[in-house]
Amino acid sequence: MKIARIAGTGRGVPDKVLTNADFERMVDTSDEWITARTGIKERRISSDDEALSDFAIPAAQRALEMAGIEGSSVDLVIVATVTPDTSFPATSTQVQDAIGAVNAAAFDLSAACTGFIYGLGVAESMIQTGAVETTVVIGAEVLSKIVDYTERSTSVLFGDGAGAVVLRADEGERGLLGVAMHSDGSLGHLIDRPVGGSRRPLTKERADGDRGYIRMRGNETFRVAVRSLADVSNEVLDKCGVSPANVDWFIPHQANLRIIDAVGQRLEIPEGRTYVNVERYGNTSAASIPIALDELNRDGKIAEGQLVLLSAFGSGLTWGASLIRW
Ligand code: UT7
Repeated sequence: MKIARIAGTGRGVPDKVLTNADFERMVDTSDEWITARTGIKERRISSDDEALSDFAIPAAQRALEMAGIEGSSVDLVIVATVTPDTSFPATSTQVQDAIGAVNAAAFDLSAACTGFIYGLGVAESMIQTGAVETTVVIGAEVLSKIVDYTERSTSVLFGDGAGAVVLRADEGERGLLGVAMHSDGSLGHLIDRPVGGSRRPLTKERADGDRGYIRMRGNETFRVAVRSLADVSNEVLDKCGVSPANVDWFIPHQANLRIIDAVGQRLEIPEGRTYVNVERYGNTSAASIPIALDELNRDGKIAEGQLVLLSAFGSGLTWGASLIRW
């Protein structure tokens, strides 16, 4: 059977930075609280005239450039996001056009912070069946567009950006060794955006009150996140017959440093092998893992043949993990 190998990575993030000091001037919070509770120091925030594709497109272009692949060779473009440019057409079609992927199918995938892992799972299956050979999987989010900046408990958490990988069908042993994906809709109320869909469309009246912002029950979410991230990571490791001690890099979803530390401890990932950049980006949802992966890759920190474990959790609820031989 073919294996889906990562042939290139890329990222695109806004220039504008919002620091904890900026938030001290906007809401009743402090650098001390944000740092102690989340580990976040700053996040990248899009400007009013920027949208998702402004970051998804450069991320995809950089990944293709690294892979040395022309857009015309791409068979499939997946954009995992809950903040597309427009509800339709799908933002993936904007990316498809911009990268010259004239032979590709394109669709958006909605699985919130787990979206990139879901995207890898779909792409891997399609590569294994021979349906496609080359795919671009992008995790991208501009959550700042749906965050209430007068509300301290959610506004300080989120940031914008995009990360991408090029996956190619290969014959060797390097590539995705396994993917696990789960969901539990009974806990959908823990993180949601109740206004702005077909249940409660964003009317003018509603826009004056509830503007279709993200809501999150942080404390309950925290507990489920730690358990789910650890369980699904163990599941994919078991499936691949790999012990946590043999993981070279662990890249968990970057939502909160305390969650990352707790999951690393539960899994017993050896010291120094967990990648963390939440202090510079905040929680970028579907973009967090591919941005981190691209940073590690471009810094030359992942050696050929190393084992990289990715694991994510988010609204839905959804959670998933993937193990890669680099
Ligand atoms: O990416 C999808 C998955 N998302 C997650 O995994 C997020 C999971 N949850 C979390 O990361 C944490 O629950 C938060 C960072 C969101 C909150 O941390 P916490 O330690 O769970 O705090 P809390 O919500 O229990 O709030 C503690 C106190 C409250 O005050 P009282 O009621 O104790 O007086 C909050 O009002 O902290 C207060 N608070 C703040 N204070 C200063 C909440 N936000 C802030 C703030 N600055 N920004």
